Amino acid sequence: IGVVALISGRGSNLQAILDEAAAGRLPVQVRAVISNRPEAQGLARAQAAGIATEVVDHTAFPDRLAFEAALTEAIDRHRPDLVLLAGFMRVLSAQTVARYAGRMLNIHPSLLPAFRGLHTHRRALEAGVREHGASVHFVTADLDGGPVIVQARVPVLPGDDEARLAARVLRQEHRIYPLAVRWFAEGRIRQDGARVLLDGLPL
Ligand code: GRF
Repeated sequence: IGVVALISGRGSNLQAILDEAAAGRLPVQVRAVISNRPEAQGLARAQAAGIATEVVDHTAFPDRLAFEAALTEAIDRHRPDLVLLAGFMRVLSAQTVARYAGRMLNIHPSLLPAFRGLHTHRRALEAGVREHGASVHFVTADLDGGPVIVQARVPVLPGDDEARLAARVLRQEHRIYPLAVRWFAEGRIRQDGARVLLDGLPL
């Protein structure tokens, strides 16, 4: 299946997916990587893998509507079956999310529904939770609130700071994002309203 990935920065989750695809373990063709930030490290990762890159810089547009018109035009040119948000740090309008309903995924660094939004590791430490993690979910208009496909748990350990906890979670992100993409590419998962069906059965 054809994939377009949206990034804003480092691109390590993108890299995990590119690596699995290159190893022949993911039946996907990443057709383009689009960043809203020209300096995103992930653009160089895509280029190194021979993948087309594009920058749609949100600061170059007068408003969100104009930015998203350019963004969706860039995405749609590649006719993707699946759109991946991989550290993409712009909130998309309900209209844009609806355009990719059931075929847009996101990775979020928390055990959703806990800690939607930003600074999840700091907030998990402040809350004193003993377990933290990451979630892959279908994107809906409800920010970080779409149906969850797969989660990975990590312990919060004594002496953890934000960076240590983030690194522990990130290693798991790199496992579960390719896994969810594989399930999707194999036609095993689909969004059914507020839930996910795996092999036709509710998760
Ligand atoms: C990840 O922690 C992801 O869950 C969050 O932003 C970070 C992106 O990292 N949404 P990377 O760009 O994939 O390295």
